[in-house]
Order: sequence, then C-alpha cells, then structure tokens
Amino acid sequence: MTSSSRPIVLIVARLPQHLLDLLQQNFTCHNLILDPLTDEALAAIAPQVRGIAANGEAKVGREFMARFPALEIVSVFGVGYDGVDVPAARERGIHVTHTPDVLTEDVADMAIALMLAVARNVVRADRFARSGEWKKGPFPFTTKVSGARLGIVGLGRIGQAIAQRAAAFDMQIAYHNRSRKDVLYTYVEDIVSLAREVDFLVMITPGGAGTRALVNAEVLEALGPKGFLINVARGSVVDEKALIAALQAGTIAGAGLDVFENEPNIPAELAALENVVLTPHMASGTLVTRTAMAELAFTNLQAHFGGKGVVTPVPD
Ligand code: NAP
Ligand code: 8YV
Repeated sequence: MTSSSRPIVLIVARLPQHLLDLLQQNFTCHNLILDPLTDEALAAIAPQVRGIAANGEAKVGREFMARFPALEIVSVFGVGYDGVDVPAARERGIHVTHTPDVLTEDVADMAIALMLAVARNVVRADRFARSGEWKKGPFPFTTKVSGARLGIVGLGRIGQAIAQRAAAFDMQIAYHNRSRKDVLYTYVEDIVSLAREVDFLVMITPGGAGTRALVNAEVLEALGPKGFLINVARGSVVDEKALIAALQAGTIAGAGLDVFENEPNIPAELAALENVVLTPHMASGTLVTRTAMAELAFTNLQAHFGGKGVVTPVPD
C-alpha cells in the first residue's frame, strides 16, 4: 500500500509503543493524545478518517464519531468497550472490536493478588519490615483467605478464571450474573444477598449504564465489617463516595481496587486509608498480555482494511 492509499486511523488513547509501531507502519496515523490537532486541523482530515484506535478507558461517543463520515471501524485495545457508543456505531454500520481472552489470566491473577494483598495486609507489612518497626514488636494479625467465602459479580471469561484460582485456595464460591450459568458454583439472584453471604466480593462485570453503582451503600452494608471488596471491573460499578464512607466507618473491612471512577485521579480520602490496596488500572499489564492485546487490536484493523472480516467484534 502506498502511503497515500493507506487508511487514515485516529489514535484517541494512550496506547503501548508496540501497537503504535504497528499502526504507524501500516496506516496513516494521527495521534490525538501525543499530538493534539486543532478543531480546524481535525475537521480538515475528518472526511478521510476510516479507523479509530482506542482503549478500554477511551470515550468514543456518538457526537465524536459523527465528525467522521467515512468511519468504518473502532478498534479497542482492551476487552471492556463501555466508552464506545456501540448502538451509535451500529446505526452507521461501523465495526467495533475489542481484545477478549488474551488478558483473562492476568486480570484473574490480579484479582487474587488484590484479595491476598488487602486481607493479609501485604503492603503495610512490607513498610513495617523495611522501616524497622518490626524491632518494636510483631505485625498485627491479618485475615485468612484460604477456605473463605468468595462472591463473584460477573462470572464471564475473567470471573470464571478467578473462580478456578479461588478453588485452589479451597474457597467456597458463589456468583451473581443477570443469568444463571451452567456451572457448579452457587448462583445468587441479587447482589445484596450475595454480599451478605461472602467474605470477599469481587466485581468483574463490564462498565457502562447497566452496571453503574451496582455496589452501593446497601451492598457494602450487607458485605459487613469483616467483608472485603475487590474491584477489577470498572470504577463506575462502585459508588466511590459510599465506598469511602464505608471504609472510613469500618462498615466493611477493606478494599482492593484496580479501577476508579475518575482515572487517573484517586480521591485523597481513599488514598489516605490504610485498609485499601490501590493499583493503577494495571490488571492486564504484563508485557506478554499487553503485546497480545496490541497484536489483536491491530489485526482487527488490518483484517478489516484488507477486506477480511474483523476477528473479535464486540458481541450483539
Ligand atoms: P465477559 O466474559 O463478557 O463477562 C462479563 C460478565 O458480567 C458476564 O458473565 C455477564 O453475565 C456479567 N454481567 C453483565 N452485566 C451484569 C450485571 N448488570 N449484573 C451482573 N452481572 C453482569 O467479560 P470479561 O472478559 O470477563 O471482562 C469483564 C470486564 O472486566 C470487562 O468488560 C472490563 O470492564 C473488565 N476488565 C478490567 C480490566 C482491568 O484492567 N482492570 C481488564 C480487563 C477487563 P450476564 O450477561 O449473565 O449478566
Ligand atoms: C486495559 C481493560 O488496561 O481490557 C480492559 O477492559 O480495562 C484493560 O485491559 C485497557 O483497556 C488498556 O488501557
């Protein structure tokens, strides 16, 4: 393909270098994050834009897509695509693709890591050991994870991988989805009842309007003063103000959080708490997985522009 016949692709999110290299080698790219365009400059190229490269956090709304009359595909680097207005894309026949499966293991690993880190107080214990505080006496007791009761909200690809790992810890596993699955784990019809019955509540649903603030004050109260919340889904699935209030009041025991309502901003009240472990939305962030995600996000664009069907469209 000569450079003049290459499809024009807009990059609207912070993407890893490997993906940027693949995009730049194959398409004519405009990176709106590294090199923002003025409205006039964007309007000048808008009629030729055929693809958008986004990530799981990027907002690709109806109005934004409406600026690009020749848009054919939005490729999301990530499995979650709650930032893309899929109905608006479908109305115009724009393909939306994502990167399922390749990140499942890493995200499940991080859910277990957060559960262990917050219950066993690993971060504080590390500080305790380094600072010499240990010389003054032993570290306070922590909470046992093996054999505990686990509730998974969102028993999909990643939820099931979390359950498999938790089974190796002899955990008793229950879950809540909108629909029951053909699995041996206990199904609980509503999230409040699930929270009441478990020691650890793990959130791993998609984000977006359908799951907004699924974890609210009532759910936290049901989880109770010995319960821990783990969120590796999206910040939007938890009412962050209610969570901070519950953590401050000891309504729940603690939280392990990889995602937040207003990333990369974390409320100071949350960051000040001792009973939380906070990670910067990095559950899929291993080199192997991010490389596989990059290749899949690129392959979707390449297959589409090469006249083949996309590989991993978002489901209907
Ligand atoms: P998936 O296979 O589609 O699983 C999602 C599950 O959530 C399904 O089992 C679905 O079951 C359930 N669900 C959807 N809406 C629900 C609701 N309102 N209430 C209860 N359950 C609901 O997706 P996945 O590959 O496991 O990924 C899940 C999500 O994890 C992604 O969408 C993304 O938001 C998040 N994620 C985060 C990271 C990170 O870095 N922290 C990385 C990857 C993914 P029903 O349809 O039966 O309800
Ligand atoms: C990524 C994610 O961190 O896949 C998802 O939905 O949230 C993560 O894997 C993100 O998409 C990359 O920025």
